[in-house]
Amino acid sequence: MSKSQYNTNNVYELLIWQLEAGIDQCIGDEPNNRFNKNWENLESTEKKAVETTNRDSVQTIKNGTIQGDQGSVDAHNIQHPIHVSPVSYNELALNCKSLEELEATVRGFDECALKKTSANTVFSSGSIDSRVMFVGEAPGAEEDREGRPFVGASGRLFDKMLASIGIIRDKVYITNTIFWRPPGNRRPTGVEVAQCLPFLQRQIELVRPDILVPLGGSASQTLLKIDLGITLLRGRWYEYTLSDNSKIATLPMFHPAYLLRSPVHKREAWRDMLALSDKLNQKK
Ligand code: URA
Repeated sequence: MSKSQYNTNNVYELLIWQLEAGIDQCIGDEPNNRFNKNWENLESTEKKAVETTNRDSVQTIKNGTIQGDQGSVDAHNIQHPIHVSPVSYNELALNCKSLEELEATVRGFDECALKKTSANTVFSSGSIDSRVMFVGEAPGAEEDREGRPFVGASGRLFDKMLASIGIIRDKVYITNTIFWRPPGNRRPTGVEVAQCLPFLQRQIELVRPDILVPLGGSASQTLLKIDLGITLLRGRWYEYTLSDNSKIATLPMFHPAYLLRSPVHKREAWRDMLALSDKLNQKK
């Protein structure tokens, strides 16, 4: 419904209109006047991000045939549009020599406009000694409120998925491709992904897990740079390449939020959890 269909003198109807527009969370005690000077900075930050991002560059995936338990996919000609991360963000991330330094840098990073509309930076949770690292898409409302990934409804299902193979959530490392909540839980834009990616890549390098598990299409495509949907990507092992050329075994899985909406796919998710469990046991 458009705003004109609501009686904007009625506070209740105005709130309903805001909810439908994706404004579903209060992120501060005081209202912000977006016409004042501070809010002009937001616009210039967004403009800068777009200017420093090459929207048209395209990378051809050269890793050949992707093998897996569902058969194989020829990846030679899959084009993945890459939003290039600004060089200065890469340098900023690479200069962080520990996870603590990286977290402080991400918390102090003001270039991603999502930070302005979020209550918290959601950096990670769990153990830095974990052999497996899970990467979700972006924080939702509850994660934004608590400052921790996967604490909402999908997080509760995720806990059960971990428990099904005997893993306690505090023993694994969990993060997201984006450190701030996109308003209304929309999918992050390519620019936002490119802004956060250098920090995520550094995070993976500093944790150095044996196994990487991107949850859902967005995280899988971002990390593997393959433009295929999660239904085709899941159920196969890939390699994520670190900056020193070493590899991490990577298993894309369905996102728990998707499983909540489409429970019929829990059987594939169960197969993937078993594959993860087998790999963890093999590598012990
Ligand atoms: N969905 C995600 O992708 N990450 C979270 O942290 C929560 C929900």
